[in-house]
Amino acid sequence: MAIQFDETNLSASMVGTEHGLTKQEVAAARTLALSALASFQKASEEKVYGFPDLPLERDIVKEILTYTANVRGSYDTVCVVGIGGSALGAWALDCGLRGPHPVQAPFSLKNPRLVILDNVDPVFIASAIQSMNPKKTLVVVIAKSGATAETCSTFLIVSNWLYSRIGKTAARRIAVVTSEGRGDLKTLAVREGYATFHLPENVGGRFSVLSAVGLLPAALVGFDIDALLKGAAQMNLLCWSNDLTKNIALRAALSHYLLLSKHNKPIQVAFPYSNQLWGMAFWFRQLWAESLGKAKTRAGEVVHVGQTPIAALGATDQHSQVQLYMEGPNDKVFSFWAVKKLSDTGEIPEKKLGLEGFDYLAGQNLAKLLDCERRATEAALTENSRPNCTYTLDRVDVLHIGMFFQLMEFQTAFLGEMLNINAFDQEGVELGKKFTFGLMGRKGFKDYKTRFAAYEAKRK
Ligand code: PA5
Repeated sequence: MAIQFDETNLSASMVGTEHGLTKQEVAAARTLALSALASFQKASEEKVYGFPDLPLERDIVKEILTYTANVRGSYDTVCVVGIGGSALGAWALDCGLRGPHPVQAPFSLKNPRLVILDNVDPVFIASAIQSMNPKKTLVVVIAKSGATAETCSTFLIVSNWLYSRIGKTAARRIAVVTSEGRGDLKTLAVREGYATFHLPENVGGRFSVLSAVGLLPAALVGFDIDALLKGAAQMNLLCWSNDLTKNIALRAALSHYLLLSKHNKPIQVAFPYSNQLWGMAFWFRQLWAESLGKAKTRAGEVVHVGQTPIAALGATDQHSQVQLYMEGPNDKVFSFWAVKKLSDTGEIPEKKLGLEGFDYLAGQNLAKLLDCERRATEAALTENSRPNCTYTLDRVDVLHIGMFFQLMEFQTAFLGEMLNINAFDQEGVELGKKFTFGLMGRKGFKDYKTRFAAYEAKRK
């Protein structure tokens, strides 16, 4: 297996019965895990949820590869306009496969840059536009709903920039990813003749990285999307297994369920020890937060459930967060993300300086230091009764990233089943959106403008 899950340090024998899981407790919850698997499998077979099928969809891959083959070599920048689930997957992939953004290799027509315009900070957008050459930029606008305020407004600015610089040919430099049968973005794409790719209706934004949402930007910058999907398909096989020793998504979901509901662990720290996995931690943060933070169960019972995800980077955050993690409230579970074989070992020169603070490091390497730092932090947390587990990827490559995306999506879906909530909606973000529409004068949202005014009056 190419990804391992080690939950030893979640056990009561390592961190005590107040904070850890006993063998009896885990055994007693086995039935819950298997029924979560069965109910999710049934719903997936009935096509209620579509993300498990994405690794097997061949038509969209062909469409994307045909389009990519036609445009490749004509741009040095792919500018993605999208937000949330329409942006974070592409960022995680780019960070994973080409390294963190500030230290990526030089960009060229052969190795195009990926610029992701998610936030509507005008200073950020203006700087990004200034950094792009309109003749060498391909714009990809992504919105499942086709009407997200941030995406629509940024797209109006970016497309205006493109048309004003290169004229009507701009239409051939814009591609759209959206729902097939609805939304103003789809209407615009048809009207303007933009190349258009669809994502299935039963795949929600934060579960869509392996649809055209993530695959199109990935293919355009040159990633092997077949290998990405191959990794995900391999993980599918494990995630549908009712053998808990094989099904790490189900085992991990069960551990988190017990820690959250029986051991008061409302916070999860996702702690990659790899800068390449840093983008993935932000992708995971959205997946876990938006899917599992819910007011009600499916039966309508008010529960206000959820586990707050925090992204931390090892070893960097040992010098920023670990003091709190060690001595602050014992309300967290730590998920370390380790890599068995990094693509570089970072050899440290053997030359000694006659200074103890340097000399013990001479002749060793950074990969060993990073690994020791993670294991040391795990041991220290465990000694302090702080439950922690470790996901180990054999390598960070396209295959393992595909596996990891699918593992985390299944884990999230299984935990949603165990909590008996709908992990696939996001009602909680609607009210803020409606207030914004009201404030920005969108037709049909006048009532929200009035309601917002009442809120402001109350503040005064
Ligand atoms: O997971 C979700 O559904 C959301 O976070 C969306 O990804 C996000 O709101 C962006 O939506 P859209 O793709 O419609 O612009």
